[in-house]
Order: sequence, then C-alpha cells, then structure tokens
Amino acid sequence: MEKNERQTESARQAEYIRLVRQMADREKEQTGRSRTFHVTTFGCQMNARDSEKLRGILTEMGFQETEEEQADFVLYNTCTVRENANLKVYGRLGHLKTRKEQDPDLIIALCGCMMQEPDVVAKIKDQYGFVDLVFGTHNIFKLAELVYRRLTENQPVIDVWEKTDEIVEDLPNERKYFFKSGVNIMYGCNNFCSYCIVPYVRGRERSRKPEDIVREVESLVSGGVVEVMLLGQNVNSYGKTLEEPVSFAQLLRMLEDIDGLKRIRFMTPHPKDLSDELIETMAASKKICRHVHLPLQSGSSRILQKMNRHYTKEHYLALVRKIRASIPDVGITTDIIIGFPGETEEDFLETLDVVSKARFDSAYTFLYSKRTGTPAAEMADQIPDDIAKERFNRLLALLHSMAESTSGKLVGHVEDVLVEEKNSRDPALVTGRLSNNMTVHFPGSDSLIGTIVPVKLTQAKGFYYFGEQMEDTEL
Ligand code: 5AD
Ligand code: SF4
Repeated sequence: MEKNERQTESARQAEYIRLVRQMADREKEQTGRSRTFHVTTFGCQMNARDSEKLRGILTEMGFQETEEEQADFVLYNTCTVRENANLKVYGRLGHLKTRKEQDPDLIIALCGCMMQEPDVVAKIKDQYGFVDLVFGTHNIFKLAELVYRRLTENQPVIDVWEKTDEIVEDLPNERKYFFKSGVNIMYGCNNFCSYCIVPYVRGRERSRKPEDIVREVESLVSGGVVEVMLLGQNVNSYGKTLEEPVSFAQLLRMLEDIDGLKRIRFMTPHPKDLSDELIETMAASKKICRHVHLPLQSGSSRILQKMNRHYTKEHYLALVRKIRASIPDVGITTDIIIGFPGETEEDFLETLDVVSKARFDSAYTFLYSKRTGTPAAEMADQIPDDIAKERFNRLLALLHSMAESTSGKLVGHVEDVLVEEKNSRDPALVTGRLSNNMTVHFPGSDSLIGTIVPVKLTQAKGFYYFGEQMEDTEL
C-alpha cells in the first residue's frame, strides 16, 4: 500500500467510527446508557498490543469498557500457538451461548491468530453459529467497518484475510498502562520453525518504517510513557526488507535519542542472528534494559536442526557467554519446548545441560503441542504424553533448584525500579520491575505508579525480590 492509500484507509475507518458512534449516541439518548464492551486477550504481547488498538476503536465508537465479561459486546482476541489456547476459547464460547440465548442483542466477536486457521472458522460456522463477528490478524484495523456491517446487516460478518502486505498506521488505541506501551516494529515471521504455527497465521515479515516508529514513540512519550517494548517475532531481522534497509541496532539508537523516554525493551530476538552490533548497542546504551529474552527451544543440536532453528547448542552457549561478558548485569530468560518429535533421553539431557550452563534468570517451559499444518506435526516419533510430562517435571525441578542458588545476585544493591502496580496480595506494597526484568515488591503508595525510583534489594525469593525505597540522593 502506498502512503496515500494508507491514509485513505485510516480515513475510511475513521468514517465508520463516526457512523457507529452516531448510532451509539442515538441509542444512548433512548436507553440512557452506553453500550458496554469487554476484550479478553489470549496469548502473547503482540495480541496484547492488538487488543489496545481494538479497545481504542471501540471506545471511539462510543462503547464503554467494563471490567467484567458481562458486557453488550464481547471480543476474544485469540491465540493458537498451542492447542490449549484453542480449547480455552471453545470452552468459553460454550458459556457465551447460554448468555446469547437469554440476550439476543449481545454481540460476540472473535479475532486473532486462531481465526486465521480455516478449520477453526469452519467449526465456528458449523457449531457456534451464534457468533456475530469473525476477523483475523491482518484486518484488525477494520473493526469499525465490521461492527457497522454487523449492526446494519443483521447477520454474522466473517472477514478473514489469508495474507496482507498492508500496515495501517494511526489507529486509535486505549492503553492498559499510562506509563508503558508495546510498539510493533514488525509483523509476521519468515522463520518457519517446524513446530510453529505463527508464520501461517501472522503471515510474512513486514517491517514498519523507522520514521513511523519514532513518531509513534515520540507521541507516546509526550503522553506520559516512559518505557516502550518493541515487538516483533524476530526483531533481529527488523528493517532488512525496507526500501532503505535499517538494522535493528540502528533503530534502537534512533529511539535512544528521544528525550523523556527512559527505558527501551524488545521482544523477541532469535539466537541465529543476534548481531555483535546489537550487543554493542545494548552495552553502550543508558536506556535499553539489561534483559535479553533468548528462546532456546532445545539444547540438542540434532533437535534444533529438526526444529529448523539454524543454530547449535555450542553457538547458543557461546552467544550467552558473549552477552554476559559485554553486559555484566544482564538478565537472560528463555523459552524451552519439551517433547518435540524424536526427542530422546540424550537430547533431553542436552537441554538440561544448557540450562545448567546458561544459568537463565527465568524460563518459560512448554510441552510440545502438535499444530496441524506445521512440518513437525507430520514427523514420525511423536513423544507419548507421559514421557514428555516426566521430562518436563525434571526440567522444572532443575530450574527451581537453580533459581534458589542463582537468584540473589543483586541483594544489597540499589537498583532503579519502574513501579507498575499496587501489589495484588498486600496493599501496603507496590510492585515494579528492574531493568533486567525481575519483579520487586516494596512498601510504597499508589502515587509511585509510573515513576522510576531507587530501591534497595533486601531479599531474593527465587524469581522476585523484596526491597526498600531509597531517597534519590542515596543513589
Ligand atoms: N508447542 C509448544 N510450544 C510452542 N511454542 C511455539 N510453538 C509451540 C508448539 N507447537 C513456544 C515456543 C515459542 C513460544 C512463544 O511458544 O517456545 O518461543
Ligand atoms: Fe514461531 Fe520460530 Fe517465528 Fe518464533 S521465530 S514465531 S518460534 S516460527
């Protein structure tokens, strides 16, 4: 899409927002209340960011957000990375069916990764005919138009695009936190790891132009944001396909220059092409957080090859050493999949070996989930559940015992903490995050939320710390 066309698309959608808003205002005059909405997000940070845009559009259309799902408009932004995510959505749709029978005006909408699978859409049409609106990952910017159609045509609207090369800028958005925000820098993935469905449901890699990203971050900062999380499935390949190619490290340096921006995070780099330029840029930066989320997936070079990951165990460990040597206070976290087809006890022991050597600050662990349409789903030697679960438990045991011995590195240190929320268990405490992404709880009031304060870390609890706020002057 050319720039003019992109502007035209945003303008078209603005017109639909206006039309729905008119309808909503008229309805409010009659009923005395606004239509309410609730968005439930499944899955990753990409989906969380998409949901902010969807909530922004709904708010501009005159709908009012509710905390609970008892709303007039219910939207599920779905995930399909593992089968469990799909099962959760079907379970919840079962409950919504009963509500819809009692209240035919309820609007039920589904979007996100799961909707990009033709089998899912067929099942919804067949078994969940009460769903009003279905759209995918490529056309969330059309929400206003789709809602308008649903309200005026009085029949289900299903609009899922197989692919797109469009990036529509300037969508409204309603952020969850006033002081931090996700920022998409690219969409899609070209890696085709053999277990992963993401490239099929999120399409090919498309980078946003650096000037559009800088403009968005500047505008977020002028609205009070101090921390941004740059989002992409494989941020290392950012900018490679732009007309004027830009590296991810170059983009980071452009963002570093924005006054008022205090912290920059990113997610997710791929170990196969994490460059020295990126490590050097991080080491030299005052704003890029000391955290690298570096998905390992498996510690066995044989399995990594079958996963199509393009690195070996040795390469991964060398990379971890290099990052730690250049950025001494860095936190390294990871993702690990257990039970990939053909994984033997020896392969699994290789994974445990990398975990011992890399000394991760934390790890997300997943049981392999077979995704139809991916190459791994067709591989011989699928691992029986009981074997996979037994290995999974051994991995968790190792991670826990390591957390006990490695955590606490920072006890006694005074570190900057971005205060994010009131502690959910103890109202006398607030909860925030260190640069290395670890969580800290310390006594403090709500007024600290959104600020960065120095905190002395007094006690380590495996994956989090307790601390005490220090006066600024003591830093
Ligand atoms: N089964 C299990 N875990 C998966 N992931 C992606 N696809 C699958 C799958 N089919 C995990 C990977 C990835 C994380 C986001 O989800 O570890 O890094
Ligand atoms: Fe999936 Fe691999 Fe792309 Fe990550 S890099 S989204 S695991 S295909």
